[in-house]
Amino acid sequence: MKIAFYDTKPYDKTWFKPLSEEYGYKIKFYEHKLNADTAVLATDYDAVCAFVNDTIDKEVVDILYRNGVRLLALRCAGYNNVDFKSAYDKINVVRVPSYSPAAVAEHAAALLLSLNRRIHRAYTRTRDNNFSIDGLMGVDLLGKTAGIVGTGNIGRIFINICKGFGMKVIAYDPYPIKDADFEYVSADDLFKQSDIISLHCPLTPETKHIINAESLAVMQPHTLIINTSRGALINTFELIEALKTRSIGGAGLDVYEEEAEYFFEDFSNDIMVDDDLARLLSFPNVLVTSHQGFFTREAMQAIAEVTMENIHTFDIDGILTNEICYKCSGACKKEQGAKRCF
Ligand SMILES: NC(=O)c1ccc[n+]([C@@H]2O[C@H](COP(=O)([O-])OP(=O)(O)OC[C@H]3O[C@@H](n4cnc5c(N)ncnc54)[C@H](O)[C@@H]3O)[C@@H](O)[C@H]2O)c1
Repeated sequence: MKIAFYDTKPYDKTWFKPLSEEYGYKIKFYEHKLNADTAVLATDYDAVCAFVNDTIDKEVVDILYRNGVRLLALRCAGYNNVDFKSAYDKINVVRVPSYSPAAVAEHAAALLLSLNRRIHRAYTRTRDNNFSIDGLMGVDLLGKTAGIVGTGNIGRIFINICKGFGMKVIAYDPYPIKDADFEYVSADDLFKQSDIISLHCPLTPETKHIINAESLAVMQPHTLIINTSRGALINTFELIEALKTRSIGGAGLDVYEEEAEYFFEDFSNDIMVDDDLARLLSFPNVLVTSHQGFFTREAMQAIAEVTMENIHTFDIDGILTNEICYKCSGACKKEQGAKRCF
């Protein structure tokens, strides 16, 4: 197999190179993101390996297909950047459904704790010999209500973490799990009742901008919003308005609607031209990390192993172990062995 890897960083090589040698596959690591301009670089490759901010729209699918690519192996769990309708019957799409849900849930907890106790501000203060604690007051999490949107792999681990802090947990998910040891409520009730809200659902047409002016309006003025899932779950403009009018307490964001332009890159010598991101970074009660929720040694190892195994099983006998169901985007549970519904 010849595989073209897009949007790669040195750490991708560290984890993928030894495995590719084990399997005897030839990998080309491109730093460029996959898009209509760069898709041609995969000409005569059997497979393409893409990441969260690559663009796999109709134009890209057609270029890849025309040039011989038959497998798109996503080295991530989310797949909102793939046009499945265009890929159907041309390019098979597989992903890494779950690598280390704990990594992302723990990062959500890190954002929550830092934001609540203003650790990001304390860090810069003490490094400047400023030992004042004025403005750094948080609240006890004990007894507060955590509202979890999406009770899948990551959401459930985050729920356990919240329970460890003695929080009351409520959740919203259109596909609730049976025998849950927490209460499911409507999305509206969750937005009204929660002291902290953490988003753990995929980005779909139904969840796009699930946090918007309407949902923000019913939240409490101290509510903290944590988003480690996908940026477009939040309407950024309306979040900024809510922060400006102090109608919520703050936001911890590992993802951002327009992150593809900035995240994973160093722009420290440049002028920020994204006014929304610049505005978010200006709030003392907003903490932004650069889509690093997944970034632990365990997760990187699992991502590399599952991605290479996905490619290998396709190579050996055409089996698509972690194929995404194009019709229902996973709700048919094909990945758990059920019959595909498309
Ligand atoms: N920040 C990171 O580095 C990082 C890493 C991995 C995953 N993620 C994101 O985390 C998300 C969750 O991952 P996961 O492994 O827990 O996925 P999962 O598939 O195990 O769980 C997703 C849950 O969301 C629920 N859901 C679907 N539609 C919903 C809706 N309209 N409203 C509320 N809930 C809904 C599903 O029923 C499911 O229970 C992924 O979709 C991905 O976007 C981020």
